[in-house]
Amino acid sequence: MDVPPPPPPPPHVVIFPLAAQGHVNSMLKLAELLALSGIHITFINSEHIHHRLLRHADIQARFVAYPYFRFKTISDGFPMDHPRPVDHFMTTYDYIKSITRPLFEELVAVPDRPVTCIIADGILTFTVDVARDLRVPIIAFRTISASSFWAYFCIPRMIESGDLPIKGDEDMDRVVTSVPGMEDILRCRDLPSFCRVADLSDSTLQYVTTQTLQTTRALALILNSFDQLEGPAISQIRTHIPNLYTIGPLHSHHKSRLSWSSLPPSSASNSLWEVDRSCISWLDKQPPNSVIYVSFGSITAFSRHDFTEFWYGLVNSRRRFLWVVRPDSLAEGGGGGISEELTEAAAERGCIVGWAPQEEVLHHGAVAAFLTHSGWNSTLESVVAGKPMVCWPYFADQQVNSRLVSRAWKAGLDMKDVCDREVVERMVNEVMGERKEELAAAAGDLARRARGAATEGGSSWDNLDRLIEDIRSMKPSS
Ligand code: UDX
Repeated sequence: MDVPPPPPPPPHVVIFPLAAQGHVNSMLKLAELLALSGIHITFINSEHIHHRLLRHADIQARFVAYPYFRFKTISDGFPMDHPRPVDHFMTTYDYIKSITRPLFEELVAVPDRPVTCIIADGILTFTVDVARDLRVPIIAFRTISASSFWAYFCIPRMIESGDLPIKGDEDMDRVVTSVPGMEDILRCRDLPSFCRVADLSDSTLQYVTTQTLQTTRALALILNSFDQLEGPAISQIRTHIPNLYTIGPLHSHHKSRLSWSSLPPSSASNSLWEVDRSCISWLDKQPPNSVIYVSFGSITAFSRHDFTEFWYGLVNSRRRFLWVVRPDSLAEGGGGGISEELTEAAAERGCIVGWAPQEEVLHHGAVAAFLTHSGWNSTLESVVAGKPMVCWPYFADQQVNSRLVSRAWKAGLDMKDVCDREVVERMVNEVMGERKEELAAAAGDLARRARGAATEGGSSWDNLDRLIEDIRSMKPSS
């Protein structure tokens, strides 16, 4: 009797994020979703990031549940105790690039764990060359919004049409007409902040443009978004990158799939800072829908002027506020010079922590709205929680995201390019007062669409199933 051949070994996927909170966050959620389906994972962290995740997140307890999930740590070129400036990853770029090839060669060369596929951060497209040399399929994962990705992708077209460069004395409200599908949305000021240069040979502009265009050389692209949220940009991207998996909101998708598994629910925190849970106890004491949550992500840094304007604006709004002020987010002495009575007023109506359990805060009944920098993870978390936003974008993709919130989805207000206590006070009171119902209704509608996409039968759920099947059909590297 013929003995049936042994079943093929489960696929083994290597996942490689940029060493930054917003990137590790979403890519670790994807890694867990793939592990839930039985795919073996090697997740590459920098030693520094991994050390912080072990200290501040529940990754050890969480990943022990997956026997074939392992972390691989690599140096980012800095000693462990180096303070790493806010934008350090651009200075480690060359070092990471230099060690990636030998790292991938080492991983691919291990015969007992052949690599089926690499999923690399879409901002590190040099990995495509390495993977192609090693004849291993590679998929890019870009952690920003589809609309931001598409705006970057259209930079050559904007240059050709004269939409770029933006001239020094230019009207920043000039409409940009050469980003197909977003003609009625984007003005100069809404383009990614790296476009705000007079000299088109600017190294950062060149870098993000090249990385984005290089994405077409990967086998496919994964985006943390969903068709009903960013339809116009997603359909435009598909004309250039037909193999596109929109599987977001990943944090919500992760929860849905975990609830279907036999695994215990987890906080799924991927925080790199100590989470101060005292803010939850403070929220528990506040009236329903009475607090504005204020947080500007893991990279935003404040000048002393801006910090003071936000402080005065929040206190003068007379609203309750929960404010995340990361210890590394203040320019030297940023918190100084605040008057006594403002500090007392803040103590009376405010709660300030260094790092909050953000997803839990956004779902808390006391929180009515979110004053955010429009980082993509924060934006999606607010969308899923159904909370309207006041957006003060800091850099990169955030300018596009804040325009989506205010103009495309009408679920919030755009405070772009302004940092003034009267404007902060006015917008906080608009979202917490006169326009509360209107904006909360729009945010609630977005939440319903987001949850629909990331539950069984939804577009993101189906796209992840397709991604898993496509990975299973790949031949591991021999
Ligand atoms: C960066 C870029 O700034 C962002 O624009 C890009 O889309 C992703 O990479 P970051 O600035 O950190 O990300 O912002 P964001 O994308 O919002 O990610 C921050 C993450 O930290 C969120 O998942 C948020 O839940 C979490 N967070 C933030 C906390 O858990 N606690 C906090 O107190 C603040």
